[in-house]
Amino acid sequence: MDFSLTEEHIMIRDAARDFAQTELLPGVIERDNAQTFPDELVRKMGALGFMGIMVDPKYGGSGMDAISYVLIMEELSKIDASASVMVSVNNSLVCYGLEAYGSEAQKQKYLTKLATGESIGAFCLSEPEAGSDATSQKTTAIDKGDHYVINGTKNWITNGGRSDVYLVIAQTDRDKGHKGINAFIVEKGTPGFDIGPKEDKLGIRGSDTHTLQFNDVKVPKENRIGEDGFGFKFAMKTLSGGRIGIAAQALGIAAGAYELALKYSKERKAFGTEICNHQAIAFKLADMYTEIEAARMLVMKAAWDKDQGNNYDMSSAMAKLYASKVAMEQTVEAVQIHGGNGFVKEYHVERMMRDAKITQIYEGTSEIQKIVISRGVIKG
Ligand code: CAA
Ligand code: FAD
Repeated sequence: MDFSLTEEHIMIRDAARDFAQTELLPGVIERDNAQTFPDELVRKMGALGFMGIMVDPKYGGSGMDAISYVLIMEELSKIDASASVMVSVNNSLVCYGLEAYGSEAQKQKYLTKLATGESIGAFCLSEPEAGSDATSQKTTAIDKGDHYVINGTKNWITNGGRSDVYLVIAQTDRDKGHKGINAFIVEKGTPGFDIGPKEDKLGIRGSDTHTLQFNDVKVPKENRIGEDGFGFKFAMKTLSGGRIGIAAQALGIAAGAYELALKYSKERKAFGTEICNHQAIAFKLADMYTEIEAARMLVMKAAWDKDQGNNYDMSSAMAKLYASKVAMEQTVEAVQIHGGNGFVKEYHVERMMRDAKITQIYEGTSEIQKIVISRGVIKG
């Protein structure tokens, strides 16, 4: 067993850290206020290889492993979780989904641009009446011979307004239940495909989240991913990897808040000494550090399982469940250590506390992770 990072991993982590400090930190508060994220920064992340981290270089990707992916996700998330969710969705839901299950023609046409950041992707599973209960898809995709016709509504879609490529899950044959669900590639601008207004959110406000409407949207048959009826398994398999990305995002939010709290506690004085010298604060720091290290172990284990070719359904669910809990609890502590300053935007930790909450909700709520883990435990 070896807990150390390779030199290559350290270089990748440092490159992400440097990018986050120099490019993401300036303007992060303004972006949170304005609910924006400039295309220019997405292009820069693409140029660094962050939009197709694990994609084979023959499709324009960086050809890195899952450990590199979580290192990059952690560093970006320490500074700006809105940037990192964009990276996570593009990498582990859209690029991975296409690379693992798409046809060669689909990879050539879509993946090559997604992996470089020239295109951006969205993953569209959730609906107003099908969130956790994802098999209850109401969106339909009717087989018309050489094409499908999609009708329905998808909500909460990350990158919803700015994407070029949308992976859309829909029900083709209701009688077959989840085995009648398919996944499709839908291009922005397809007639009948409309993008609703941006959601006004508690956290990750720089990430754009939209409702999407499909009104008689014609999609060619060659845009279906995999065999007929593979769509639900496609979503589940893809989400197992996505959950590693969100676990790493939660870890990064927690670690970023901890680093700020530690620094502040060594500078701020009360009762004649730096507040870190008061045991109540020192013990908070001890708990934060321990919890974050424990979360890091689970996140790394899930990434390692993926790299080793092991099944990672359970390890990714455990990593997400635990890291998101740590992110929520420890960002609250970081605000507390900052006192009144923790409550204002200038000190960053209040944003991190708001951003942490979503990691317990998207890509499967914490309750859903417990369903996945408990089923795995019982099944053995
Ligand atoms: N890999 C392969 N197949 C899987 C699977 C996996 N990880 N998980 C389930 N399946 C298969 C099952 O084997 C079953 O197939 P068979 O009948 O052939 O055996 C089929 O899928 C249905 O599975 P279940 O019976 O377990 O289905 P369920 O209705 O009990 O639901 C669930 C299972 C785990 C709760 C699932 O519905 C789920 O994950 N819900 C949460 C949805 C979610 O995570 N949404 C995230 C949206 S994307 C997002 O959020 C992005 C973002 O924010 C940035
Ligand atoms: P519900 O499923 O209605 O759940 C409500 C509550 O009930 C939760 O606490 C849940 O855990 C609990 N619950 C439900 N069922 C059970 C059960 N069986 N046992 C115990 N508790 C249960 N989706 C996408 O497809 N693509 C995206 O890009 C995307 N991005 C998102 C971005 C944001 C900012 C947000 C807020 C959501 C995003 N989502 C996306 C949707 C997200 O995945 C769902 O919100 C999530 O899966 C929960 O579904 P829901 O909101 O319908 O809640």
